[in-house]
Amino acid sequence: MEQTLGLIKPDAIAAGHAGKIIDHILKAGFQIRGLKMIHLSRTQAEAFYAVHRERPFFADLVEFMTSGPVIAFVLQKENAVTAYRELMGATDPAKAAPNTLRALYGQNIERNAVHGSDSVENAQREISFFFTQAELIPAQSLTLSVA
Ligand code: RTP
Ligand code: MG
Repeated sequence: MEQTLGLIKPDAIAAGHAGKIIDHILKAGFQIRGLKMIHLSRTQAEAFYAVHRERPFFADLVEFMTSGPVIAFVLQKENAVTAYRELMGATDPAKAAPNTLRALYGQNIERNAVHGSDSVENAQREISFFFTQAELIPAQSLTLSVA
């Protein structure tokens, strides 16, 4: 079963949308293997988005991502990386398909409510950025056994 790393960004947390976003993700059939709220330092945000270091929006992006806490989670589902990117919608909320997380909760191309890993390889790197293996819940613990 594939895993991906998701974030609820500071804009969506400040707007009070975190609960609705998590509900939307669960209703789409993802299992949550790990979850934490963290206020990224500048160094952490720069490292997380290091791939964008040379882009004109990098300084703004780091400023935004450190403006308040984020909620980080590890999602599991078949084809989790692609499935969660589809659930999020396009980077620019104005171009995101109806009912995607960014169409529903994003404000603009930067303040776009959520992040999701863009490949299986980056998902593994980003999961280890936020979580130790011991912090992840074993998949079998997520299935309730009702007597
Ligand atoms: P993410 O990494 O956050 O899941 O978003 P993404 O793959 O859809 O987009 P990416 O190109 O990786 O950009 C990372 C984040 O940088 C901000 N951004 N601002 N001002 C701009 O033109 C601009 N472009 C991108 C967004 O917060 C975007 O999600
Ligand atoms: Mg990206």
